[in-house]
Amino acid sequence: MFDLLVVGAGLSGLQAALSAQQAGLTVAVIEARDRVGGKIWSVPLASGRGYADLGGAWINKSLQKRVGAYVDKFGLKTVVQRLEGKAVMQQAPGERFEFPFGVTPSDFSPEEKKSLEMVRDHIQAESLKPGPPRLEDDNVSLDQYVRDLGALPGTIKMVNIWAQVMHGLDSTEYSAAWFIDYCRKNRGLLAIRADDASGGQHLRFRDGAQSLATNIAALVGAPNIHLSSPVTSITDHGSYTSITTTTGQTFTGRKTIISIPSTMYKELNIQPPLPPRLQAITNATTLGDYNKAIVCYDRPWWREHGFNGYFASYVGPVILARDTSVDEVGNYCLTCFVNGKPGRGWGRLRAHERRAAVLAQLAQIFGHEEEVYKPIEFFDQIWQAERYSRGALAPITALGHLVEYVDVYGRAVGNLHFVGTEYSPEWKGYMEGAICSGEVGAGEVVQALKGRERANL
Ligand SMILES: Cc1cc2nc3c(=O)[nH]c(=O)nc-3n(C[C@H](O)[C@H](O)[C@H](O)COP(=O)(O)OP(=O)(O)OC[C@H]3O[C@@H](n4cnc5c(N)ncnc54)[C@H](O)[C@@H]3O)c2cc1C
Ligand SMILES: *[C@@H]1O[C@H](CO)[C@@H](O)[C@H](O)[C@H]1NC(C)=O
Ligand SMILES: *[C@@H]1O[C@H](CO)[C@@H](O)[C@H](O)[C@H]1NC(C)=O
Ligand SMILES: *[C@@H]1O[C@H](CO)[C@@H](O)[C@H](O)[C@H]1NC(C)=O
Repeated sequence: MFDLLVVGAGLSGLQAALSAQQAGLTVAVIEARDRVGGKIWSVPLASGRGYADLGGAWINKSLQKRVGAYVDKFGLKTVVQRLEGKAVMQQAPGERFEFPFGVTPSDFSPEEKKSLEMVRDHIQAESLKPGPPRLEDDNVSLDQYVRDLGALPGTIKMVNIWAQVMHGLDSTEYSAAWFIDYCRKNRGLLAIRADDASGGQHLRFRDGAQSLATNIAALVGAPNIHLSSPVTSITDHGSYTSITTTTGQTFTGRKTIISIPSTMYKELNIQPPLPPRLQAITNATTLGDYNKAIVCYDRPWWREHGFNGYFASYVGPVILARDTSVDEVGNYCLTCFVNGKPGRGWGRLRAHERRAAVLAQLAQIFGHEEEVYKPIEFFDQIWQAERYSRGALAPITALGHLVEYVDVYGRAVGNLHFVGTEYSPEWKGYMEGAICSGEVGAGEVVQALKGRERANL
């Protein structure tokens, strides 16, 4: 019997396993996929010019202490996000304008600009307040919340882009409290939205973000990680736990940490069943449409025309894009986020239609069809279609639930403990949050086992 079983080898599960081992526990990690990393997944370019990050990619080493320490410990190479050049805003089909990157788009009327700044400053102020979310903010959608503030139409659309790019849902689809709470746990709205050194989007990994997970997995030890072993049932026997997999294996451990997104708990046969209130909140969490299309070129041709590579769009299917090149290896890519409702429709298209839709939009944004239609590689990734993710970034609670079920959400039940980026007190939704939550979960288990040993003496 192990001291601890961990379901899932994403960052939160791997960190939980490592922290538990460091405290002297024996651990088995049981992972459905044939790889570690979960929602970080880096795939090599066919041209050999580095990797495409189909999942998480950006970090800030100094703000995200745990990720930063691992980057240094493992000697991982990073690339600074390139910021120079003109950004583009697409307001309607065939309607676009260029603006200097990093400022409020200048084609907005003075009234629209004022409205946007009012809403931005309001949410920023809310997101710097300490404390739990408020009920009156949790039973209203983010869209309704900004309408109630008196936001003008352009602002309402911009807030929708924030929602789509941050969470993969439209602003009508989740509560203002969830949005504000997310900002609170992540140093405020402005830090989240910033693409410069002040925010979470400053650096990327030269050799792919997944290297973070593979290096942590190496510390945990390959023999302790059981890949290609989807968990089908988890039983808490009172004095120990057991887990069975589709491959017919059974594992036993004194404690179990479940690191899969809460939206998927209902797919596991957990016995005895989780308490009804915990089921009520986790059954109803939603995973967003958070997709990437990564278009790679031989040269960064957009820079030659003064473009930064960044654009935002009210039209879609791409709602935001950035230059994610790694110049030193000749990797020149535009990473397009195809999120929220536009991403939902796009995700149902056939592969060639998805590609056509993205390239057609790039042509509308940048012109230069002779360049746009000559990518050397094209990747797309629809996280909703992944059997063991079912969407991204992280589960989002239903209207009213964040406040109503705060006392049970993420709390241990018997010998079962829960981790995942959704539960992190800081950098929720991010890689850093996943690692933080893994540490916290391992700490809970270590405490609980200590208590039990004392009781046995
Ligand atoms: C497109 C995209 C862009 C992102 N961008 C960023 C970014 O720029 N910066 C950033 O910091 N973060 C980003 N993120 C978020 C970041 O990737 C996640 O927050 C983090 O990786 C989540 O880790 P986790 O351990 O909580 O969950 P997961 O990575 O989902 O781990 C859960 C694990 O459980 C496994 N599993 C599921 N079901 C079972 C089962 N039945 N049996 C066994 N195992 C199972 C899964 O295979 C997976 O390995 C992005 C994510 C996506 C998808
Ligand atoms: C939302 O919460 C507030 C504050 O508790 C309450 O007054 C209001 O009636 C609630 N609205 C709905 C639709 O539940
Ligand atoms: C991260 O953010 C901090 C604080 O805003 C900033 O000072 C720093 O330069 C950023 N960059 C890196 C590499 O961490
Ligand atoms: C949660 O979902 C499961 C599976 O669909 C169902 O059996 C259970 O009754 C639900 N629980 C609650 C409290 O809604």
